[in-house]
Amino acid sequence: MVTQETLNFLFSLLHKESGLALDDSKTYLIETRLDPIARQEGFPSINDLGRHMKQHPSQPLRQKVIDAMMTNETSFFRDVKPFELLKGVVIPDLLKANEKGRRIRIWTAGCSTGQEPYTISMLLCEMGPALRQWDIGILATDIADGALARAKAGIYSQYEVQRGLPVTYLTRFFNQRKTEWEIKQEVKRLVEFRRLNLLSGFSHLGIFDVIFCRNVLIYFDADTKVRIMEQFADILSSGGVFFLGGAETPFGITGKFTRIETEKGVCYKKNTIPMQP
Ligand SMILES: C[S@@+](CC[C@H](N)C(=O)[O-])C[C@H]1O[C@@H](n2cnc3c(N)ncnc32)[C@H](O)[C@@H]1O
Repeated sequence: MVTQETLNFLFSLLHKESGLALDDSKTYLIETRLDPIARQEGFPSINDLGRHMKQHPSQPLRQKVIDAMMTNETSFFRDVKPFELLKGVVIPDLLKANEKGRRIRIWTAGCSTGQEPYTISMLLCEMGPALRQWDIGILATDIADGALARAKAGIYSQYEVQRGLPVTYLTRFFNQRKTEWEIKQEVKRLVEFRRLNLLSGFSHLGIFDVIFCRNVLIYFDADTKVRIMEQFADILSSGGVFFLGGAETPFGITGKFTRIETEKGVCYKKNTIPMQP
C-alpha cells in the first residue's frame, strides 16, 4: 500500500513540476501508473521509489514519473467541430487578415501523441492551392517525452486510425506499414514538435494566430489555469483564435477572452479591453 507520506511527496512533486493537481481520491492513479515504473527501476514498491526520489532528486527519474502520470488520451479529429470551425471559418479569415505577410502560426499546446497537430496539418494540406506561397507553421508541444517520441514518429495502430479519422484522410495521408499506419511526409513537414512544460512560461515562442490547448488545463488547479490562460491571451495575435476542450472554459477564470459561438462550434478571441473573469 502506498503510504500517506509517499502520496504527499508525489502529489507535491507533480503539482510543482507539471501542474497536475491530485488528491487522495486519485491514489489509484498513483498505484496503477507508478507501479510499473517502480518495478522497471528496480524498486520493490512505490514507497521505495518515492523515498529514493526524495533522497536523490535526479531529473531523468522525475521525468519518467511525470510522463507516466500524464493522461495522453487523444484522437484524430477529436470532437470534430473545432476542426470544422478551423477549416471553414478561422483559416479563411486568416487568409484575408494576413494577406500582406502571408504567414500563419498555429500552436497546439499539450499535443500528446500528435493526432491533434496532424489533424490540423491534414486540413491545411487539403486546402492546397489556397495556401501556396504561404508560410504556415504548426508548433506542437508537450511535457511528456514518451508521447512526443510517438508524435514525431507519426506511426499509429489500426485502433488509433479507426478513432475519428475519416477513411478518405487515411487513404490520402497515410502509408500502410503491415498492421500500422505512417503519416505522410507532406503532413509531417508542417509540424514541429518540441518539449515544453507550460509551467515554465512561453512568451519566448512569439505570437500565434491560433492556439489549441484542449483537454490539458482540466488537470490543473484554478491558480495555474489563470496564469496559463492569461499567458495564452498575451501571445495570441489581435485577430487570433483560442480553442479549448469541450469541458473547458475561460469563464470564471480570466476576462481576457470572449466566447465566439458559431454553427460550426465554439472558440475564443482575445478581448482588447479585459473584462471581469
Ligand atoms: C489529454 S491530453 C490532450 C491531447 C490533445 N490536446 C487532445 O485534446 O486530444 C493532455 C496532454 O497535456 C500534456 N500536459 C499535461 N501537463 C502539461 C504541462 N505542464 N506542460 C505541457 N504539457 C502538459 C500531457 O502530457 C498530455 O499529453
